[in-house]
Amino acid sequence: MDKDFGVKTWMYPLPVLIVAAYDEEGRPNAMNAAWGCIYNDNLVHICLSRGHKTTANILASKAFTLSFGTRDQLAACDYVGITSGNKEADKIARAGWTTRPSSHVNAPVINELRMRMECELVSADGEQIVGRIVNVSADESVLGPDGLVDYRKLDPLTYDPVHMRYIALGEEAGKAFSAGKELR
Ligand SMILES: Cc1cc2nc3c(=O)[nH]c(=O)nc-3n(C[C@H](O)[C@H](O)[C@H](O)COP(=O)(O)O)c2cc1C
Repeated sequence: MDKDFGVKTWMYPLPVLIVAAYDEEGRPNAMNAAWGCIYNDNLVHICLSRGHKTTANILASKAFTLSFGTRDQLAACDYVGITSGNKEADKIARAGWTTRPSSHVNAPVINELRMRMECELVSADGEQIVGRIVNVSADESVLGPDGLVDYRKLDPLTYDPVHMRYIALGEEAGKAFSAGKELR
């Protein structure tokens, strides 16, 4: 027997995206966003409430970074999701984070988060923000022997919207575009 839950935003897994942008004076701010995804080959989509400081910053600076929240930064990732830069001007420092300018877009890179997408604003329609991926970069410390990102080293968080908790990734379960071939 199935159980109906009605209209919920319960999608598994949701990402833990840390969206960062500069304000008009060049001060960095960041927030946590679970409602984000790949839109097409080079576009991302995030759903951001209009009242957030980060949203205003993206509209002003026309750029943002999307870093992946990680287990070692869990408290800081949550902090930037429960505190607004509209009230706490020094939010990034309070999170224990430092930033540097992206060399690809007009947006801050958070040094303590080791993989991110660097994006230019394409459109903002209400809460729907679309950005163009200009670059993806990752710290060498999260790369595997093949030179690509190793999820075990990155240790990214996911967000469980049912119980409002962060879940780390588990073991590899199978090869995509491959495991189904045996059923062809
Ligand atoms: C796990 C988690 C996920 C969140 N996802 C979103 C989201 O997808 N969109 C959004 O507008 N706010 C989301 N928030 C809320 C913002 O991160 C929060 O309101 C933040 O304080 C906004 O900061 P700012 O005003 O400095 O930009 C989320 C918060 C948490 C803790």
